Amino acid sequence: RLGINALFGREGNALLGGTSRVKYTNYQLLRATARTDAQLQEIKELKQEMSTDVSFWTPAKKNASTDIMVAPEAVEEVKAFLKKRDIPYEVVILDVQQMISLQNPKMSKEQREVLRGQMGHSMTFKRYHRYEDMLNYIDYLAATYPQLVQYVNIGKSTNGLPLKVVKISGNSSSTAAEKKSDKPAIWVDGGTHAREWISPAAVLYILKQLVENYKVNKRIVEGVDWYLMPLVNPDGYEYSHTTDRLWRKTRSKGEEEEGEEEEVYGRKEGKWRRRGGRVFWEKCEGVDLNRNWDFHWGERGSSDDPCDETYAGPKAFSEPETRSIAEFLMVNRDKLKVFISLHSYAQMWLLPWGYTRAILDDHDDLMEMGRVAVDAIQKVSGNNYDLGGATSLLYHSSGGADDWAKGIADIKYTYTVELRDTGSYGFMLPASQIIPTGKEIFAGVKAIAKSLLTKL
Ligand code: ARG
Ligand code: ZN
Repeated sequence: RLGINALFGREGNALLGGTSRVKYTNYQLLRATARTDAQLQEIKELKQEMSTDVSFWTPAKKNASTDIMVAPEAVEEVKAFLKKRDIPYEVVILDVQQMISLQNPKMSKEQREVLRGQMGHSMTFKRYHRYEDMLNYIDYLAATYPQLVQYVNIGKSTNGLPLKVVKISGNSSSTAAEKKSDKPAIWVDGGTHAREWISPAAVLYILKQLVENYKVNKRIVEGVDWYLMPLVNPDGYEYSHTTDRLWRKTRSKGEEEEGEEEEVYGRKEGKWRRRGGRVFWEKCEGVDLNRNWDFHWGERGSSDDPCDETYAGPKAFSEPETRSIAEFLMVNRDKLKVFISLHSYAQMWLLPWGYTRAILDDHDDLMEMGRVAVDAIQKVSGNNYDLGGATSLLYHSSGGADDWAKGIADIKYTYTVELRDTGSYGFMLPASQIIPTGKEIFAGVKAIAKSLLTKL
């Protein structure tokens, strides 16, 4: 099975050179619904048996639909498999590659320069930007609103990109003596998973509202200290722009091993690479940052296989991204009352825990605050976000940022939010939805900030 794929399919493209674009031409997205336990089991078997040809975008659950991307070579086989077992399915996307190319309008160097000349930065919110544009925007804000915006480099990614946290702190009084230092703080991050492009865009939208729309949002800018981290995983994000649109993990690498092709063919931990006339075995790359945190690390719902999408890493906090954030959170934990990590897609507002079905001691408090947010979202856009525990709404997954923020840093209102949509476009949410999504998540976060201020 690996043979054909390794030469012609997704892996094959990654194999030839590493920087060549991975194409998903004629890959289909199927939405299947298991109605019985037996069917659920069979869908899970499909995942095991055809792991090189199918990729699960959403988990298999009973009486809920599962989105499965299937390589063209396997489409007929998978459909026959589902039919034979009476599992209903529909084809949601006929050609994933076409969807990818439609998603994000290109911006030329000239356009970028024109925008920089006009606005001082090139952040448009009408397209998904590269990290460089994001960093430029942050620089622009910090230079233009020095009283309000500061940023901290909390570390570097594996590939050396800066990990940036933006702090927004408004003060009605300009004298230092009157500045309040005991304000509550709210953390919002995005871009943990590379392919979930809407999430960094949404954090930047929140940043824009707090800073460029300061007057309208005065109360929450002055009453709260905001820590925004637009891009947790810059290496993966850049890779999803340059090479593989559907990349999820970081880009950290296992060591190389020389070897005979036949010897290791089909081994799970890696794949063959060909570069500069040399053929070598390369270990699979990347760690799932949302499985890498040091709290119930490596337990249910995380993988110890480096080739899996949910690989937890060789050890807890193996990645500089999780380590740097954890350190920052620990330093600021007394102030931090809210921790929100943005992902996509599903439209869900999730509470810990992810590692267990057990319910939080203060579950009701978090539900109440979560309700405030999803109601505000509903009001703005009419969109429904499901509210509930991560394990019951999704699946078990250990080593998540939210679980650590709650369990170790002891931040009270800790959430993971799955942004738009519910699967029409999935990860390829069109750029035209950045602003509408930004508006709804900002409404949710703003409602939380206000509610927090009335509680204190
Ligand atoms: N889709 C997210 C993930 O798989 C959900 C995380 C929810 N939180 C958790 N601790 N499981 O990473
Ligand atoms: Zn995610």
